[in-house]
Amino acid sequence: MILVTGGAGFLGSNFVLDWLAQCDEPVTNLDKLTYAGNPENLASLAGNAGHRFIQGDIADTELVAGLLSAHKTRAIVNFAAESHVDRSIHGPEDFVQTNIVGTFRLLEAARAYWNKLEAEERKAFRFLHVSTDEVYGSLDKEDPAFTETRRYEPNSPYSASKAASDHLVRAYHHTYGLPVLTTNCSNNYGPYHFPEKLIPLVIHNALAGKSLPIYGDGQQIRDWLYVKDHCSAIRRVLEAGRAGETYNIGGCNEKPNLEVVHLLCAILDELKPGADGRSYKEQIVYVTDRPGHDRRYAIDAGKIERELGWRPAETFETGLRKTVQWYLDNQAWVRNVTSGAYREWVGKNYQDRK
Ligand code: NAD
Ligand code: TYD
Repeated sequence: MILVTGGAGFLGSNFVLDWLAQCDEPVTNLDKLTYAGNPENLASLAGNAGHRFIQGDIADTELVAGLLSAHKTRAIVNFAAESHVDRSIHGPEDFVQTNIVGTFRLLEAARAYWNKLEAEERKAFRFLHVSTDEVYGSLDKEDPAFTETRRYEPNSPYSASKAASDHLVRAYHHTYGLPVLTTNCSNNYGPYHFPEKLIPLVIHNALAGKSLPIYGDGQQIRDWLYVKDHCSAIRRVLEAGRAGETYNIGGCNEKPNLEVVHLLCAILDELKPGADGRSYKEQIVYVTDRPGHDRRYAIDAGKIERELGWRPAETFETGLRKTVQWYLDNQAWVRNVTSGAYREWVGKNYQDRK
């Protein structure tokens, strides 16, 4: 059995769905169900005996200890986190609590469980920590892409809290010998992405006839990866990664935000033309920039390709098209996640941006 944490969120739910579609090893899915966790993402698993969902906190050591020892757990894959930079600017405390304290408690529970395993099981056990490229800070235009040895320079409360969690994971290997793996991935997009992040927000706002907010000059660069490619990379690292190592994961798809939004508008113009015949591009507005906004992220994924033979399957164009189609086909999902508390967040984040 593997224990997946945060498996009702964007990445976690894609990972659990993919995992159970490809093998019959059961998954225990521990998720606190914050605003970002959505059991509807897992609706297709109803009645699947391989999936056991538990609502709870990774910081609840007792609960985690019980889950680990109730089954023969051979790996933990930790997706649970507060994940949105803008929310971390408005309220960093939850980020410290879940990303730092939560990861620490999860590591403690894992260490206690792992210590009691037989020698062979101890060797095979893995704690895989899912992290982000944002821990490396911001690149200038001409800088080389991030490698695994790049110095950590986190700039937002979000990336600082993820950096702290990465350091704890590293220390548990170095000090206690816990067989950990860390993955640092670039920006993902795809199905079940909560519409607070750029790509799903733009699709949602475009279809709702609302403005498409571009922070600052829109020339900030992100390195986009289709979520299912991230899932296949994590599976590969879990299977063959060397304990104690970190692996950067990316799609070799550096794009300025404005270009991403233009591409989304062009796909929407084709798949769902507006009734008045005008392009969705006309809904673009420039708004006040994010404080401390990182200019550029870029991943050098050479290590995972060389050592583990992983490469992404989707190009940005094919992945983006699939994503837009998914949102068009799943408007009920979008309606459900954009009611209630979502509206409060949109008010808070956008009302003071000129
Ligand atoms: P998300 O916000 O969509 O989902 C996070 C999930 O964790 C939610 O289901 C939430 O309910 C759960 N959760 C939050 N606090 C918890 C707690 N204390 N205990 C248990 N569950 C808790 O995030 P995501 O985009 O799926 O990201 C998952 C992980 O991947 C994060 O660690 C993030 O830093 C990392 N990551 C994300 C991206 C990306 O582009 N989305 C890229 C690289 C790395
Ligand atoms: P986001 O999806 O929040 O991911 P991250 O901040 O983790 O990279 O944002 C992606 C980029 O899009 C980032 O440079 C900020 C920008 N952005 C906008 O221009 N407008 C928006 O409304 C949002 C949410 C993001």
